[in-house]
Amino acid sequence: MAQAQAQQTGNGAPGKGFRSARLGWPELDRIPHPPRRVPLLGDVLDADPRSPVQDSMRIGRQLGPIFRRKAFDREIVFVWGADLAAELADESRFAKHVGLGVANLRPLAGDGLFTAYNHEPNWQLAHDILAPGFSRAAMEGYHPLMLDVARQLTAHWDERSGAGHEVDVPGDMTKLTLETIARTGFGHDFGSFERSRPHPFVTAMVGALSYAQQRNAAPPLLAALQQRGAAKRNAADRAYLNDTVDEVVEARRSGDGTGARGDLLDRMLETAHPETGERLSPENIRRQVVTFLVAGHETTSGALSFALHYLSRNPDVLARAQAEVEQVWGETEEPAYEQVARLRYVRRVLDESLRLWPTAPAFSREALHDTTLGGVHPMRTGAWALVLIMLLHRDPAAWGQDAERFDPDRFEPKAVRARPPHVFKPFGTGARACIGRQFALHEATLVLGLLVRRYDITADPDYELSVTERLTLMPRNLRLRLTRRTPARTAQPAARD
Ligand code: HEM
Repeated sequence: MAQAQAQQTGNGAPGKGFRSARLGWPELDRIPHPPRRVPLLGDVLDADPRSPVQDSMRIGRQLGPIFRRKAFDREIVFVWGADLAAELADESRFAKHVGLGVANLRPLAGDGLFTAYNHEPNWQLAHDILAPGFSRAAMEGYHPLMLDVARQLTAHWDERSGAGHEVDVPGDMTKLTLETIARTGFGHDFGSFERSRPHPFVTAMVGALSYAQQRNAAPPLLAALQQRGAAKRNAADRAYLNDTVDEVVEARRSGDGTGARGDLLDRMLETAHPETGERLSPENIRRQVVTFLVAGHETTSGALSFALHYLSRNPDVLARAQAEVEQVWGETEEPAYEQVARLRYVRRVLDESLRLWPTAPAFSREALHDTTLGGVHPMRTGAWALVLIMLLHRDPAAWGQDAERFDPDRFEPKAVRARPPHVFKPFGTGARACIGRQFALHEATLVLGLLVRRYDITADPDYELSVTERLTLMPRNLRLRLTRRTPARTAQPAARD
């Protein structure tokens, strides 16, 4: 991990500001761009600022595994071919690039873990202090709290479905995942399930993420002119998020609320770095808390929502998942920690959903020194590319000609071993990959297991999947019909393997 601290962006200078591809790719002209490029404006025809990822996906399919897009004076290189993406995963040549939407979140999250530049000392400090918060022992401690929140969800869904209503999948998954990270990480209860509307924290967060995404679409001057109103709203959203975080931290400091329990917040407040004795500053703690509250729920909520969509559309997959839960959990309504990871098929359903719709759909990588990508594209130190995870996950070269089809069996161990490495990257790559991966996987597998055990899930036959983008991906207006089911009584929990 020390490697990431040593990484410098560009020629060793802090990587601030947008660096257009023209500066870093001396042979940029070799890389294809959309045919209808407009002088001064760039590739703006057919571009929808509300769906930049899905636009790029469409364009990438036409142009191939590496391509570029330009909006005004900003040009970006996109990569999705499995071979090129594998090269970009090589930590001796490339590192995370803090750019685009991630950089646009800096005013909110500063040098918090997600948005920190590689050279910022607080990245390593916070990483070392917080990593034990995601150990197996820590996860086992979060498990009962995850179950408490899941119980609130099922109580709500029992009520809705019992009254003959559909359930609001993305809305309720967001309630679930926000409550889960808030309670496990910070001992805070947002009371999401007692509200009919989203908590204002969620509204402010969605505002902040959408604003960060939209700022990519126009150059700063135009954005400043166009978006004065939006900038004001964004400042209000940021203030709300920060105030909420300050209240959560203050409650812990003053000993109110649920008290100390060795969670993420305790680690931030109490723990010194094991080697240097350094601690996180109050300002950095604020940034970490907002980072974890946002990064810790939005993407997991989307992942659960897509998985439920696919389960509703694939009755055979649903039946297999139900059979597995019955076999592994038997009559246990509330599984123990170690029973969750044993739901291998449910986990494959989740992986396959994250393959088709990786809810954090892209990450950026920059060259640590002058290099040549794919043997033909020279890159100067600091030059960067955006890895389009969604297309990487659908590259026929890695996933076969039926890559668009939902099929959890792609994640059978044998099939995984047969694929090249670095073709499945929903949690990013290298030193800056997702710190919350195990947390998300445990939470989502647990919840999917509980849900398929409890309900049959029916899709609305008229629903067509459409996807909202706000840096993350979420199925739009997904509603499902649930029917309570009685799990097979004869099943006994499977012996441990
Ligand atoms: C399905 C759920 C999730 C997905 C798909 C996801 C995806 C990602 C990705 C792709 C990155 C790397 C971004 C980049 O390279 O720029 C990342 C980083 C990060 N994620 Fe997640 N994440 C998920 C859940 C979580 C959870 C539950 C937490 C916290 C509890 C979390 C906290 C973070 C943090 C703090 C980072 C920055 C790590 C660093 O740079 O040191 N994420 N995540």
